[in-house]
This record gives sequence, C-alpha cells and structure tokens, in this order.
Amino acid sequence: MYLSVEGRDVTSNFGDYQLEIYLQGLGGVLPDLPMTYTELAAKAQAALPPGIWSYVAGGAGDEHTQRSNVAAFDKLGLVPRMLRASKTRDLSIELFGMRLPSPIFMAPVGVVGLCAQDGHGDIATAKAAARTGVPMVASTLTVDPLEDVAAHFGDTPGMFQLYTPTDHDLAQSLVRRAETAGFKAIVVTLDTWVPGWRPRDLSTSNFPQLRGHCLANYFSDPVFRGMLAKSPEEDPKTAILTWVAQFGNALTWDDLPWLRSLTDLPLVLKGICHPDDARRAKDAGVDGIYCSNHGGRQANGGIAAIEHLPDVVAAADGLPVLFDSGIRNGSDIVKALALGATAVGIGRPYPYGLALGGVDGIVHVLRTLLAEADLLMAVDGYPSIADLTPDSIRRSH
Ligand SMILES: Cc1cc2nc3c(=O)[nH]c(=O)nc-3n(C[C@H](O)[C@H](O)[C@H](O)COP(=O)(O)O)c2cc1C
Repeated sequence: MYLSVEGRDVTSNFGDYQLEIYLQGLGGVLPDLPMTYTELAAKAQAALPPGIWSYVAGGAGDEHTQRSNVAAFDKLGLVPRMLRASKTRDLSIELFGMRLPSPIFMAPVGVVGLCAQDGHGDIATAKAAARTGVPMVASTLTVDPLEDVAAHFGDTPGMFQLYTPTDHDLAQSLVRRAETAGFKAIVVTLDTWVPGWRPRDLSTSNFPQLRGHCLANYFSDPVFRGMLAKSPEEDPKTAILTWVAQFGNALTWDDLPWLRSLTDLPLVLKGICHPDDARRAKDAGVDGIYCSNHGGRQANGGIAAIEHLPDVVAAADGLPVLFDSGIRNGSDIVKALALGATAVGIGRPYPYGLALGGVDGIVHVLRTLLAEADLLMAVDGYPSIADLTPDSIRRSH
C-alpha cells in the first residue's frame, strides 16, 4: 500500500534500518545524516537562518517546561523482559478506523514550510508522509495552501490542524476545504488563541506570520478574501492585519458544540492536559484527545507533558489519545505508548531533518526513530504495542 524508499519497504521491520546502514558501510558509504538528536539539532542550527532556528528551537519563558518535557523521559525506564523474543514486532495501530503501519505521526509545525531550502517544507513533509506511511498533521500556518499539501500525501492519510479563526464562516470554510482535499481528521489546537511569551523571538522581534509568512491558507480562502477591499497580493499589509484579527479565537466550552458541528470527520482537541478536560471533551462528542503542552512553546512553568498522559488516558476512557511534547528518540515513543498513548507525535526533530536533507532528511529522522523504538521492543521483550502497559515502566528517583 505504501511507497518504499529505494525499493525497500519502510513500513514494517523498522529495525532493519540499522542493517541497511551497516551493510552500506561495508561498501564505504557512511550515513550523511545524524544518528542522534543532539547532532541533528546542532547541524540544523548551522543550516537554518538564525531567525528560523530560534523560532523552531525556542519556547516560552526561560524554557523550563520545554526542557522538562525532554528530561522527564530520562526518569522513565522500560523494564526488560526475557525469553519473549520475537523476530518481528507489530508497531501498527488503528486510529479513527484507519490502519497505520506505525504508531507515530508528524505533529503540526507552522513554519515547517520555511525550514526547507526551497521554502516549500509543508509539501516536503507531505512527500515524506507518502514515503513512510507516517501521517502529517498539516498546520493552519503553511507556506502552500492545504490543497497543494494534501496532493502529495499519496496513500498516507493526513490530518488538518485548525487554529480556529474568530469568524465562524472562515472557520467553516477552512474545515470544508480540508474535507474536500481529503484530510481524514480535524485537530483543533486550544492552547494558542494568544501567542505565549517567547523571549528568544521577542529579543529579535521575530514573528514570521506578521511578516506575511505561512498565511497561504488564509490568503487563498474565499471567505478571508471577501473580508478585504483589496487582495492580499495588492495590499499585503491590510491582509496581514486582518489575519491578526482573525487568528485568536478565545474559545470556551460553550463553543465546543459549534466546533463539533463544523465537521463529520473525527474531531480531535489538542492541548488537553487535565483529566477533567478530557472527560468533558469526551462527553461533548469529540473523537480524540491530544495530550500536549505545545512543546513548551506556549506556557512555561508547567510540568512535563508526559506526566499528564496517564491521567488523561484514564479520563479519555477508551477514546484515542494522541501525545506529543519532548519526543526525541525511539525509546521516548515506546514509553509514551506504554503509558497509554494511541499515537505519538514527532515535533522539532522532523523540521531539523528537513533543514538538513529535504524529504530524505525527514524520512531519515522518522526511520531512525522507528528503528530505535522497534529494536528497543525487540531487545526488551515487547513484541507488540499491546504488550506495552504502564506496568512495563519504572520511574527512577
Ligand atoms: C516551530 C513550531 C511550530 C509549531 N506550530 C504549531 C502549529 O501550527 N499548530 C499546532 O497545533 N502546534 C504547533 N506546534 C506544536 C507541535 O505541534 C508540538 O506540539 C510540539 O512541537 C511538541 O513538542 P516537541 O517539538 O518539543 O516535541 C509547533 C511547534 C514548533 C516547534
């Protein structure tokens, strides 16, 4: 069903990526892309323009929450189990009626478009999704319109992330367009109706959207264009100011029935960290909960997102729970799955892969993450995701 990379199926037996690398080494070919997150980030920093790097790498406040998201995984450990060896592992999952070959997806990253050397990183991400079977959640904030992004998904399903505009007709228009373009779910992000306090960006007065970047979904939208006396091409300044007025819808629970009414597609709420919020969302008829603190970019002073996951999973009571924030390697993926995540979102690592190697760079990052997860499950005796439970995890003090 899925396309392969250089003739190889990359949608199962993920650990075989290491064999491929070792065998290429016998022929004198060494990997030209990093094998660790630390090296990936360092090389991406060197490759990206400083303003893009700091926008992607930075977070809210002194970035304590952002660091905690990552550090918390070091305190969790998978308990090895022996004599349960299995030559193949099953990492496939079921999500919203779709069978996916792996349990990861690419989290929505506005400005990923700008991380590509040709400035079309959303399309590169969609192509990487097509090649790996790893779904992309396309942000509202893309360089290319959502229709053009979706056109590159191949057989891999995609999800559309909505920053809910203040105007209801514009919100409906964006969702309709996503439906028509073939997206399979709508992910509404709740924690970003106002941008968080980001000292790195503030110190360089750097907010890409205010410079007109990544607004293609708005500028191409008939409802948005109808709000303007002159087109965005003729009068970009007014178009950007109109976007500012449209961006931040301060939603409350009273708005949830309206959000639900926007689509028959699976509706997922992103940014849920409290079990009461998960319960209330479930009662209101959403199809999925997305536990995330936006990678520590929005609110500082919070604990790591992974600490919230078990309570959110319990409250979701069988509803799929997507998780992101702090995933840096394959073992983080396995730990999040063991703590109950249905699917695990990759954030910063894939824009860094894109910056270094385009579509191939993203494919490499996804394959390394999945290879490490697969081999950890192999070595530690967990042949399938169903074998991973909270009891498989110990916390070190
Ligand atoms: C540069 C950047 C832009 C982002 N843009 C969006 C966005 O447009 N919509 C959204 O819901 N989340 C956005 N996020 C948050 C990610 O979806 C995800 O929650 C976060 O990256 C996870 O943290 P991690 O990258 O540290 O693992 C963005 C994250 C980054 C790093």
